[in-house]
Amino acid sequence: MPGRLLIVDDEKDMLALLRRMIAEERDFEIEVENDPRRALARFREKPADLVLTDLKMPGMDGIALLEAVKSLRPDTAVIVLTAYATIETAVEATRKGAFDYITKPFRRDRLLLTVDKAMHWQQMVRENLELRKALEVKEGFASLVGASPVMRRIFERIRQVAPTMGTVLITGPSGTGKELVARALHRHSLRSAKPMITVNCTAIPSEVLESELFGHVKGAFTGAWKEKRGLVEEAHEGTLFLDEIGDLSPHLQTKLLRLLQEGEYKPVGSNVTRKADLRFIAATNHDLKAAIREKRFREDLFYRLNVIHFELPPLRERKEDIELLSRHFLAKYAAVNRKPVSDITPEALAVLQAYDFPGNVRELENLIERGVIFSRGPRLTVADLQMEGSATSPAEADAAEPAGLPFREAKERAIRHFHRRYIRRLLEEQGGNISRAAEAAGIQRQYLHRLIKEAGIEPTEFKTR
Ligand SMILES: Nc1ncnc2c1ncn2[C@@H]1O[C@H](COP(=O)(O)OP(=O)(O)OP(=O)(O)O)[C@@H](O)[C@H]1O
Ligand SMILES: [Mg+2]
Repeated sequence: MPGRLLIVDDEKDMLALLRRMIAEERDFEIEVENDPRRALARFREKPADLVLTDLKMPGMDGIALLEAVKSLRPDTAVIVLTAYATIETAVEATRKGAFDYITKPFRRDRLLLTVDKAMHWQQMVRENLELRKALEVKEGFASLVGASPVMRRIFERIRQVAPTMGTVLITGPSGTGKELVARALHRHSLRSAKPMITVNCTAIPSEVLESELFGHVKGAFTGAWKEKRGLVEEAHEGTLFLDEIGDLSPHLQTKLLRLLQEGEYKPVGSNVTRKADLRFIAATNHDLKAAIREKRFREDLFYRLNVIHFELPPLRERKEDIELLSRHFLAKYAAVNRKPVSDITPEALAVLQAYDFPGNVRELENLIERGVIFSRGPRLTVADLQMEGSATSPAEADAAEPAGLPFREAKERAIRHFHRRYIRRLLEEQGGNISRAAEAAGIQRQYLHRLIKEAGIEPTEFKTR
């Protein structure tokens, strides 16, 4: 079924040009209108699947039209046309629910690409609407917990932003929940029936990552004995989550920029350009602005990613969340470990609230998990948390030899203690440089990353300047 397209621009020449460019190549039902108010009246009578509108028009600007269209029919795709000078407004339009924007002057293929993507999105929305409603009711924000004003605002914005195509950048220190926010965004998006594929940009060397991402053709390099699909292809019509984006090599930054801008990429060793329909979410715990200054991160890529920004504050700056999170993890690990512990003493809570959590929520989660495992009664106590005498570092608290514990638990505890001490010392020696630390320890970088996370250690703490 051909889609319905409504084009709105106060300049008649521009209207004619747009209509011609699209009509020559596509089989849409096209209507044009040079007065935004009349356009809206017409839309009310006979809604379009896609509205292509200029931004600066007398009487009613493109943003107002966008808002009106979206309130009448949220699933209509809107593309905004703009001169370069008003790019800020265009970004604002994306935030307000525009599907995308096109800067003038534009190329025909660019225009068609965006129009096609928007039409496609619109169809997908239709198909997914019912499914999405069912999911939303079932899951809500089940796993993302928070009661502080910051977190409430984050929940609200997730709801607003999730159904749009806007690219999202999530920043914040390690363990603050960036990945969970990405998942919530995907789950509340119109793409939730398709997968969210996560790419960890840190753990893998650049060449390997390139073929992971884009796939490769047979014979692309030694060992490429058959063709391989890339993650970009697997994420088609879904979400691509680029974790630790700050670690992406310059070479891949360039390729990613192309993917973001044109929706195009080439598998390694191939000359054939492929198209991908993706929603992008990126996360990092690095300061990208600093990376840009130091020429380690492309500024143009940053702006493409940073259309919608979520900043997750460290846990110590939202202590209101500690109680809720503690209870959430308590319930989780009591169930997992089949322990009859269902509450936490006020003293234990006070100890947690006084602590500053360099490892953020992940560290709190680890603490509660450990506490639950060692708990003896129906309430989690200060003793269970094993934080005594170490207001700054519970990491050292389990140094004491665990007396009277079953062998397996005692052993696990000793191993954990060893991991923490070893890694802290290693990072200290290597000034927080993970590559060097992994090499010195003779283990894989990826494995070291996991150990660091499990131990709730913040590697940047060890950075020497
Ligand atoms: N608001 C929250 N509610 C419930 N669990 C949370 C919340 N925030 C974080 N967590 C939990 O804390 C752990 C760390 O979260 P997550 O992996 O999302 O952090 P991150 O910011 O991506 O960290 P990193 O930068 O180290 O990758 C996870 O187990 C996650 O489930
Ligand atoms: Mg993460």
